Amino acid sequence: MYDFDKIVERENTSSIKYDMRMQMFDNKDVTPLWVADMDFETPHFVREAIIKRAEHPIYGYSLRGETYTNSIIDWVERKHDWKINKDWIVFSPGIVPALNFATLTFTKPGDAILVQPPVYFPFFTAATDHNRIISESTLIYEDGGYTIDFDDFRVKSKNAKLFFLSSPHNPTGRVWTKDELIQLADICMENDVIIVSDEIHNDLILPDNKHTPIASISDEIADITITCIAPSKTFNLAGMATSSLIISNQKLRDKMQSIINSLHVSLGNIFGAIASEAAYTHGYEWVAELMEYVSGNLTVLRDTLSSSNSCIKLVEPEATYMAWLDFNETGYDDDKIKNIIINEAKLGLSHGPIFGDGGSGFQRINLASPRTIVTNASDRLCKAFKR
Ligand SMILES: Cc1ncc(COP(=O)(O)O)c(C=O)c1O
Repeated sequence: MYDFDKIVERENTSSIKYDMRMQMFDNKDVTPLWVADMDFETPHFVREAIIKRAEHPIYGYSLRGETYTNSIIDWVERKHDWKINKDWIVFSPGIVPALNFATLTFTKPGDAILVQPPVYFPFFTAATDHNRIISESTLIYEDGGYTIDFDDFRVKSKNAKLFFLSSPHNPTGRVWTKDELIQLADICMENDVIIVSDEIHNDLILPDNKHTPIASISDEIADITITCIAPSKTFNLAGMATSSLIISNQKLRDKMQSIINSLHVSLGNIFGAIASEAAYTHGYEWVAELMEYVSGNLTVLRDTLSSSNSCIKLVEPEATYMAWLDFNETGYDDDKIKNIIINEAKLGLSHGPIFGDGGSGFQRINLASPRTIVTNASDRLCKAFKR
């Protein structure tokens, strides 16, 4: 029903992905497959809702009403089998801001925050920007896939106050199993660690995988968890700065809300609310088609890597529209890998080392682009790294 093949010009639209290529890659012509937004049109039902509201000529202070909240509750129940209560929902102007709010709310300078690298890099700065310490429980990379080192996680959690969980995990694409999540939560409960579960990629699940919101597993786990969700990745609305925190524990919720209030960032923006409600109300079929298309793009990349006998290895993602590529067999260092990608393959990818420990030797590619772009990019990448 939807046309994901359509090429939409994004140059000169103040797009970070396109219009910051010179600063990022010292080259304005690379095909940008880095920042995690999509080159697909935001669905028509979202655009129409925004345009309709924009036609009213006054954009004054506005509320997020009952229909906005109900659209979140219904989405979370239908998509993720999790019944949430309207009182549990707290607005945040983004999930990275929410990580920072959590740091300010639940820790003090010098406290440790636990993360699982290689991981989305703002997890680090959400601690270090506030003089908190990062405690890393690096994921185990074995046989081309990632698992959790639970013994290490247990040791590290003894000194931590907060745990930033990326679920599904960016950049490895892991969808944590219920069993893995229970083990993580049990360790956090034993050690009084509060979990901030960043589930921004929760709707972007590839076929044959199932996302479990960690807080949906039990009331006890929900009691120590702040779950972060947003329509931004799912519907290509990152510029709308609108997300939700789901916090069933009233004490945690009140504390977090009071920090958010004290920073005066709970108003949000009027178009973010309109877009979020339209997306969560009408978006079921669109997301299903989106992930089928992304899965097709992944097949193109996988097939190109194998038919060209490339020395780049694909870490099979279970979710997200990104793929984590292992360049270790090339024997090159990170600078050389990056240089070849920019200057020979003419691509702009996300550089592995920015994801922290375990990121060296890897690059992340964004596959949320029309098939022709992904096909060309895959060909160029494989040619540049011919065995
Ligand atoms: C794991 C993860 N969390 C958060 C974000 C960004 O969230 P926001 O734009 O709501 O701050 C991203 C964007 O790539 C992400 O991958």
